[in-house]
Amino acid sequence: MKTILEHIGNTPLVKVEEENNSSIFAKMEGFNPGGSIKDRIALNMIRSAEKDGTIKKGDTLIEPTSGNTGIGLSMVGAMLGYNVKVIMPETTSIEKIKMIRAFGGEAILVENLRYKKFAIEDARDMAKNGAGIHFLNQYENMNNPYTHYENTAEEIINQLEGKQLDYFIAGMGTGGTITGIGKKLKEKFPAIKIIGVQPVQNQTIEGLRSIKDGFVPPIMDVDLIDEIYDLEESKAIETKDDLAKKGILVGPSSGAAMYICREICKNNEGVNIITIFPDRGERYI
Ligand SMILES: Cc1ncc(COP(=O)(O)O)c(C=O)c1O
Repeated sequence: MKTILEHIGNTPLVKVEEENNSSIFAKMEGFNPGGSIKDRIALNMIRSAEKDGTIKKGDTLIEPTSGNTGIGLSMVGAMLGYNVKVIMPETTSIEKIKMIRAFGGEAILVENLRYKKFAIEDARDMAKNGAGIHFLNQYENMNNPYTHYENTAEEIINQLEGKQLDYFIAGMGTGGTITGIGKKLKEKFPAIKIIGVQPVQNQTIEGLRSIKDGFVPPIMDVDLIDEIYDLEESKAIETKDDLAKKGILVGPSSGAAMYICREICKNNEGVNIITIFPDRGERYI
């Protein structure tokens, strides 16, 4: 019998829509035990830090996150014996905050602009000044893209049952998802187009951030990305609401990715498009 942590990954790949002789497939990351793709990197970053001796049971992990990494770390931390403190923008959905607390984590809410500009530095300072406090740093930690390169992308390739892929669409937060999966898919399908989605500046799509704000996460391989779309928040929300009407309850970043998938579908006949639905919709109600 497996533990809950061994149930991280191996999420379903589903066919979402067909139009114009083209198909859209989505990897349903909300099926992870903590409800998002971030369970994968939480487990991998903790396991790697344990292996290299950086952290030990009883330590405190501090992490700035739009919520899902905080939920993942709190869940994994609860099982493996770590305290977790999470710095989050104050606009984070109440459900995410409550989930972090339910897993025994501490949620520190900061004003949105402060989060964007200073949360990483604040976490660094807290780790520097406190005994037994560690900052795993999903924006710089190569275990973030690596887990998607090694696991998420491999799962996708195995689930395709021999189909070719033409487009990969992913929302951009830390860039771990687009970099890790994009790199492996480009190796397998050299002609694939890698497309990123980010919010238009000064709008919020939870989980995503715009590199136009001036911060390009060190783990993000921008050269791998063929095109980046700036999307309005309203389009992301409308699309996720529309997906729910079709039986798929996911978050706004899934709506954002799906909107771009549909645009590509409309303009290209006979292509296979794959995207990631990073989390479940219950946490945004
Ligand atoms: C809901 C959601 N979607 C998308 C992303 C973006 O993923 P990544 O950080 O791998 O770029 C995140 C990241 O926090 C997220 O929470």
